[in-house]
Amino acid sequence: MITPKDSVLRDVSEILLRFPTAINNIKKKISYIKRIIRAVSHPGQSLSNRWIRTRNEFVRITRSIELIDVVGRPVVSNETLRAIVSQNRAVLSQVDSWLDIDTWKNSRFGYGVPERILPTLDMAVGDELTYSDLLIYLMNKLSKPIRYLEIGVSVGKNFWQVVCSQETIKAFGLDWEECSPALQERMPSLGSSSPNDSSPKTALYKKDRKEITYVTGDEFDPKTWEILTLHNSEGFNVVFSDASHSEQAILTEYERLISNNLVKDKFILWYDDLNNHEMKAAFFRIANDMRSRFGLDFRENVKLFKIQGWVGIHAPYHLNGVITSLDLSDLNKALS
Ligand SMILES: C[S@@+](CC[C@H](N)C(=O)[O-])C[C@H]1O[C@@H](n2cnc3c(N)ncnc32)[C@H](O)[C@@H]1O
Repeated sequence: MITPKDSVLRDVSEILLRFPTAINNIKKKISYIKRIIRAVSHPGQSLSNRWIRTRNEFVRITRSIELIDVVGRPVVSNETLRAIVSQNRAVLSQVDSWLDIDTWKNSRFGYGVPERILPTLDMAVGDELTYSDLLIYLMNKLSKPIRYLEIGVSVGKNFWQVVCSQETIKAFGLDWEECSPALQERMPSLGSSSPNDSSPKTALYKKDRKEITYVTGDEFDPKTWEILTLHNSEGFNVVFSDASHSEQAILTEYERLISNNLVKDKFILWYDDLNNHEMKAAFFRIANDMRSRFGLDFRENVKLFKIQGWVGIHAPYHLNGVITSLDLSDLNKALS
């Protein structure tokens, strides 16, 4: 059995082993000493160890990842992007109510909408770029048709903008809430199925050349991924991750996507709300793994940025991350 003392010794010795050489830089020295103190002050927790590892990875990777600044960009000079912004605002303005109070109260966890956000769901998002705008802009650079998966659909604000942006699309939504009434109203139903009460439920919709599959299930349940794989042998070329914002969630999603061969070689993986250290570290681990699988270059294919989200100007900026086979190196130019 590892005692707290062993654990401290292991943490400290690991730090010393990792940095045994002469450390000339005074800042580095201080930072290593701080790590040792942290390891000593968290005896018995592997957290300090993991923190150091992920921190190393974080430092190593962020040197080559550019943090671009999307914050505060109003309607941009790029015409393509401007057209997307105006179409998205028009799509949103056609929906008077995304979530009525009774549906919210009777739902499992309120569709991920905190009470303070509820009144802002139907308000105009404003003219600054949102993640939906930029996601669609990049998505349009991939070859068609888009095979889209949104993990965490909530009432469908982003999902519906994506569906409306494409003439032809196979869109998959996953959430442990039922498909919202606002979305259902807009998508003619082809029926639904659920093998038994404990299984995730699948509902199919079709509107013109848009095929929509909505899976009601827990993203941590392997059965949810079996269903997603069953309905989509071709895999996804765009995945928007916005469900249970945690390190464990995005690593589990990634593991399921890869093990079920659901990501092909031309893709966008998009992550919302990378706000805490653990989420960022998990994002970098995923980026690192994608780099070795698909030969990505961090400067061209991975970006972090702060941007407005589903309620636009009514909430603080979200830290988003994207990992893609597309070359993003001129994104700053496109945004200017
Ligand atoms: C922030 S909302 C998604 C917003 C939406 N993507 C948009 O931009 O319009 C997060 C959603 O994730 C769902 N969610 C959270 N944890 C989940 C889980 N373990 N499995 C499935 N869905 C989950 C919540 O029910 C909620 O609807």
